[in-house]
Amino acid sequence: MRIVTTVAEMQRVCAEFRAAGQVVGFVPTMGALHEGHLSLVRRAKAECGVVVASIFVNPLQFGPKEDLAKYPRTFEQDVERLTAEGVEALFAPEVAEMYPAGAETTVTVAGIGDRLDGASRPGHFTGVATVVTKLFHAVGRCRAFFGMKDAAQVAVLRRMVADLNFEVEIVGCPIVRDADGLALSSRNAYLSAEERQRALVLHRALGEMQGRIAGGEVSSAALMDAGMGVLKAQDGVVVDFLAVVDSGTLLPVEQVGPGTLVAVAAFVGKTRLIDNFVV
Ligand code: PAF
Repeated sequence: MRIVTTVAEMQRVCAEFRAAGQVVGFVPTMGALHEGHLSLVRRAKAECGVVVASIFVNPLQFGPKEDLAKYPRTFEQDVERLTAEGVEALFAPEVAEMYPAGAETTVTVAGIGDRLDGASRPGHFTGVATVVTKLFHAVGRCRAFFGMKDAAQVAVLRRMVADLNFEVEIVGCPIVRDADGLALSSRNAYLSAEERQRALVLHRALGEMQGRIAGGEVSSAALMDAGMGVLKAQDGVVVDFLAVVDSGTLLPVEQVGPGTLVAVAAFVGKTRLIDNFVV
């Protein structure tokens, strides 16, 4: 696997792939790769001629009190995993390459970018949209694979790609879970064994809501009550939000139907975890 550290070289490498007639599959990540990321790589491999990935811990998407400094970094192991999966090129720039001195432009997806995680983490989606714009300009025309665990991120990026005419197709891929139901996340590494047990309440709450929907419940208010009941019964978990929204706009809906996103975010100790399902 070729490791590329500059935007200019990444543009050249990806242009060569396209000139050779290949569709480029792109998997953007912040590293600390787990089976969730590898599922994106495998899907991209199955559907595209060549696969490129990126590893960049993007400072712009972390708030001042968030975990940028301690975010897990496992670069050598990540390189081994991507190589084993047959990824052709890895873009791994330094911060100064992505944000050179004097850079002032950011990308804000107004409205939708301030909903769900965007409301709890002001500026987060501007950081994501800005770095993903720069990554898309480095890779060029491609199909880009994102995990649906970050369903709000997928909605924001779909809006951005449509609004700004990127030659990119966003592909949302299913959440990958541990055997006990916990959604895989690089941040799970922060959890103690006891916190990890507590964290399962997110999956339980969503399961309760999903069960009620299967049983015919369509009222968002009733579903929220049921989900909140499960979350509140768990000591040591602080709910950030539980939301029943349209998966495209992230606006609340009164009744659930196909395409409704049910999303939860909660702090387990100091670790903020998210999970969701789409009806
Ligand atoms: O989902 C992530 O890992 C990040 O938000 C992304 C899309 C790589 C941008 O930094």
